[in-house]
Amino acid sequence: MKIIKATDYKDMSRKAANIISAQVIMKPDCVLGLATGSTPIGTYDQLVEWYKKGDLDFSGVTSVNLDEYKGLSGDNDQSYRYFMNTHLFDRVNIDKTKTYVPNGLEADSAKACGDYNRIIAEVGGVDLQLLGLGHNGHIGFNEPSATFEKETHCVDLTQSTIDANARFFATMDDVPKQAYTMGIKTIMQAKKIVVVVSGEDKANIVKEAFFGPITPQVPASVLQLHNDVVVVGDAAALSKI
Ligand code: F6R
Repeated sequence: MKIIKATDYKDMSRKAANIISAQVIMKPDCVLGLATGSTPIGTYDQLVEWYKKGDLDFSGVTSVNLDEYKGLSGDNDQSYRYFMNTHLFDRVNIDKTKTYVPNGLEADSAKACGDYNRIIAEVGGVDLQLLGLGHNGHIGFNEPSATFEKETHCVDLTQSTIDANARFFATMDDVPKQAYTMGIKTIMQAKKIVVVVSGEDKANIVKEAFFGPITPQVPASVLQLHNDVVVVGDAAALSKI
């Protein structure tokens, strides 16, 4: 595991974007595994900036996202598909038909997850997976549990996540209660993994996940077993290691 220390959020975003750029330049038809959340937004902004300058070409790139809320369509502004369109896909020359997010509108969980596993296999697996890190060590929607989850699966969201999301929806019925997520096995099969972490509030979990025991109670700790992981963090997030 390699740890790259950035000074601040902007610097972290540039460094992470540099690694992704190198991947796209070295393999223009690569498969990028992408994440939502607040941490990668600056990374996507930086990639867009370099694309606009003519330094990056996404026309050959395929992407697969980590996760999606079950029940939300891609035009719902709370969906992860909408997030990706807004922050990256609509701003660069990626072929949208080659950008994959689990199908939130598929009510049959087994089908949604099976379809997504097939897509990942058909595109040839993930070359570079970008990850954020949850405060409890989650990656994707793989929450602390007794065992490491495997491939794409459906998770029940915790009540605190449901409550936190409630403000974005008209009624409680509209708030997603479940999500589809890549599993730990899928994530671990990526050839390269880049984790972005920012802010003092991530300092404890960075230490626990990357320097503590490997346990399903801290899902990101499994990344210690991967042979090509880069953690790009700002000084605050890396302040306890
Ligand atoms: C996003 C995802 C989540 C986030 C994590 C960190 O697709 O699956 O695991 O990466 O919750 O989120 P932020 O970056 O908002 O701290």
